[in-house]
Amino acid sequence: MVEKIKTIKFSEYESADELPQADRELFCEAVEALKGSYAPYSSFNVGAAVRLSGGIMVRGANQENSAYPSGLCAERVAMFSAAARYPEQALEAIAIVASQNGKLQPAPSYPCGACLQVMAQYETKFGNKIHIIVGSGGSIQVFDGVASMMPFIFTDI
Ligand code: THU
Repeated sequence: MVEKIKTIKFSEYESADELPQADRELFCEAVEALKGSYAPYSSFNVGAAVRLSGGIMVRGANQENSAYPSGLCAERVAMFSAAARYPEQALEAIAIVASQNGKLQPAPSYPCGACLQVMAQYETKFGNKIHIIVGSGGSIQVFDGVASMMPFIFTDI
């Protein structure tokens, strides 16, 4: 038996002002996307924005439903919307931000496992690592590739 250790690397910025321009633009787009959140059950609003290889940004926001599992997370709304509209363009980056009562959360809200699994699928489809920006009203964390958020993600290859 051997014990093994995996480490995760990410960057942390004190505020959105510190982000490189492209990341800051995507973060701002995710904040704008919050306006499309429909969260009458949780009152937890999530906004996401993806940037595609052609430079286009596509927004998504969480959508809830009285039949709970029928709703969808902001990240998947953004990714599926982008993939359906621009199927040939690689998904290069995603920014995620959450708010409650109109105020950005004080700490990053990480994508759930199902959303990470969907990101992994697009990494496989297009052969690139996705740049993941997890924002908040305070610090912002940036990860390169889904494996740096979920190291043992399912794969069938
Ligand atoms: N939610 C997201 O939009 N993204 C995630 O990664 C996790 C959770 C949403 C789903 C639901 O509308 C609300 O946050 C509370 O769970």
